[in-house]
Amino acid sequence: MNNLINSVGILGIGSSLPDKVLTNEDLEKMVDTSDEWITQRTGISQRRILEEDEPGYTLGVKAAVSALEDAGITAEDVDLIIVTTETPDYMSPSTSCIIQREIGASKAAAFDLNAACTGFMYGMTVAQQFIKTGYYKYALVVGVEALSKATDWEDRNTCILFGDGAGAAVIGAVEDGYGILSTYLGADGSMGHNITIPGLHSDPVEDAKRIHGKKHTIWMDGGAVLKFAVKIMESATNEALDRCGLSIEDINLVVPHQANIRIVEGAAKRLGVSRDKVMISLDKLGNISSASIPVALNQAIKEGKLSKGDNVVLVGFGGGLTWGSTVIKWAK
Ligand code: UT7
Repeated sequence: MNNLINSVGILGIGSSLPDKVLTNEDLEKMVDTSDEWITQRTGISQRRILEEDEPGYTLGVKAAVSALEDAGITAEDVDLIIVTTETPDYMSPSTSCIIQREIGASKAAAFDLNAACTGFMYGMTVAQQFIKTGYYKYALVVGVEALSKATDWEDRNTCILFGDGAGAAVIGAVEDGYGILSTYLGADGSMGHNITIPGLHSDPVEDAKRIHGKKHTIWMDGGAVLKFAVKIMESATNEALDRCGLSIEDINLVVPHQANIRIVEGAAKRLGVSRDKVMISLDKLGNISSASIPVALNQAIKEGKLSKGDNVVLVGFGGGLTWGSTVIKWAK
């Protein structure tokens, strides 16, 4: 019989970004757009992207190694690796197995989880269950995305939005009363057609949307997603707060999915959160899907925005459509 664990939280965190910077000025030379349009409509001024011959998993490996260092454990201590990604380098082997191999986590079980941009919320919640029951001691959750490889660089509606990157967290037992206070996950598959990246099956409806004939690229109804996102960011935050009996006034920092400044500001306004309590990293990184929340959280920690005992909300939404939120009492 395993011993139940009272409190589960983040023991260490790390991130990794590609070196190559793609600015709005660079995009002006690629599609009919302008720095002014992109900045006003999205808040993004640049993003990091992988070189063509650089696989995405390399970012996940670096993020994982730095999260392990931060947690003060080794790869051999890891029991479970969950990789969240919607842009894997291979259909098989999974990115989690590749990362397991690369870091030498020989005793770890490993699987990938796809909840699009909400992936990290899903991954953390799954990991939490394994730790809470005592089944595993340490789980590594890695959000790693190579969106540049799924981008149609001729489609100005989408190519200005995305970047590449990885963020990782070691999940384990923390001091009682700290760590994850609540989580909330949701999905509405009936809205899934609003953001698609086709895989192996060729669907004529999806093919027709891709006017440049690139069948496996991202297509999105930006307006529909924007409307959905503002509402769900508010309601998902409130649901996670209700589940742990806190109110928004108890929150020191909100780390939202970094999709668009208008979504983040719209949700913050509805929630009544001041701008200084909302972490923003999208200006320099664009939308990096499931890596966006752990990368932004790591940046917040490096900037000294979180201290032990602070309450932080992580909240995201994305393809599926999916959404998720968690409230954490910071334990480090
Ligand atoms: O994590 C995944 C979730 N995805 C998102 O969070 C995306 C959510 N949606 C958005 O961020 C916004 O909808 C966009 C930034 C994608 C678009 O902003 P918008 O205010 O919804 O613009 P729009 O799609 O309504 O387009 C307005 C105009 C259109 O021209 P017309 O039809 O009015 O003549 C577009 O063709 O802007 C045009 N347009 C552009 N113009 C210059 C679209 N993309 C561009 C561009 N540069 N890159």
